[in-house]
Amino acid sequence: MRKRASRSNEYEAECIPGLEAIAMDELNSYDAHSLETLRPGFLRFRFAGDSRLLLTLRSTIAVYSVYRFEVPRPKALLGHQHLTRLIGILRAAMRDWAMKNPRLGIGAAGANSQVITRLKEELARLLDVKLAEGNKGELYLRLVRPIDRSAWEVLVRLGPRPLSKRDWRVINMPGALNATVAYAMTRIRSQDAQNRVLNLCCGSGTILVEHALNSPAGQLLAVDNSAKMLSAAKRNLCASDTNHRVILLNADAGHTPLPSRAIDRIYADLPFGGHVGSHADNLRLYPALLREAYRVSKPDAVLILLTHEINLLRNCIAQSNWRTILETKITLSGLHPRLFVLKGKSTRIYK
Ligand SMILES: C[S@@+](CC[C@H](N)C(=O)[O-])C[C@H]1O[C@@H](n2cnc3c(N)ncnc32)[C@H](O)[C@@H]1O
Repeated sequence: MRKRASRSNEYEAECIPGLEAIAMDELNSYDAHSLETLRPGFLRFRFAGDSRLLLTLRSTIAVYSVYRFEVPRPKALLGHQHLTRLIGILRAAMRDWAMKNPRLGIGAAGANSQVITRLKEELARLLDVKLAEGNKGELYLRLVRPIDRSAWEVLVRLGPRPLSKRDWRVINMPGALNATVAYAMTRIRSQDAQNRVLNLCCGSGTILVEHALNSPAGQLLAVDNSAKMLSAAKRNLCASDTNHRVILLNADAGHTPLPSRAIDRIYADLPFGGHVGSHADNLRLYPALLREAYRVSKPDAVLILLTHEINLLRNCIAQSNWRTILETKITLSGLHPRLFVLKGKSTRIYK
């Protein structure tokens, strides 16, 4: 049954392009309605509840309140009537999100144009706030043109920072995974029991924390061969109060001390020669990791991998005991890594 849209407000959720379905699932569980994808990575929806609830979303990078201004171009926002309305909206945002001395940032096509610069300076003067360097302030808005191009919309971000920046991340290592991608990996459904979960190449623990917060039961094992990464993971796990469920092992992901046929679900955000590792290392690591993951898995286990070394991983999978159930391209920091979901060749494919 279609829900009534009365007394609801319009919002835009920004998510990782390629992971819209997971963001939609989560929004549906919050009773959002009139959900639609505007373009890759941007979802529109209506929501009748308290907007503070939306700050607990884990699959979206940021959520914005949408305000429509009947103006032909952004310059008209400097006119008295529109400027007064906009100042009211931004003052309410500063109050709602308890922002003290926020810096103001505006995202727009032509963000450095004369008009947007004037608008930014005028808003900062009237609100008595500073301008953010690089346009990314705590008080952050975007100017966008609706699809019918009949007006302009001002989108004001809920909260002083993106939702992908998690409170638990007390140590931010180079190459750490975006937490919304880690969350999406933990939401991939399968028939695995999820009692015993292993994170190979766990790095600073992003997937571990998101999994532990998402599935309050079960034991987690994690392997990395860098003591520095494991110590960062420990700090992040402690900050998220999930450390008591996780055993961290300093070992090679291709040769772990784990028993055979013990694990229900395995994750790995593989090194792909950007911040971490090199192609030469991966030529050895990828096939060894697939072999080891197969050895330690129960027969119906699922293996969820993220990498930008797509051809290498595909070739290694073809020569392994795994088969690909799902391969999803995502857009992350200007790159297009892929998410692979694998099952053992001898197990049946789940729906
Ligand atoms: C892309 S990073 C993982 C980042 C992690 N998802 C995070 O959010 O911090 C890849 C990790 O693989 C680890 N690694 C590389 N080669 C390894 C190997 N042979 N055995 C175990 N871990 C390895 C690195 O130390 C690094 O922590």
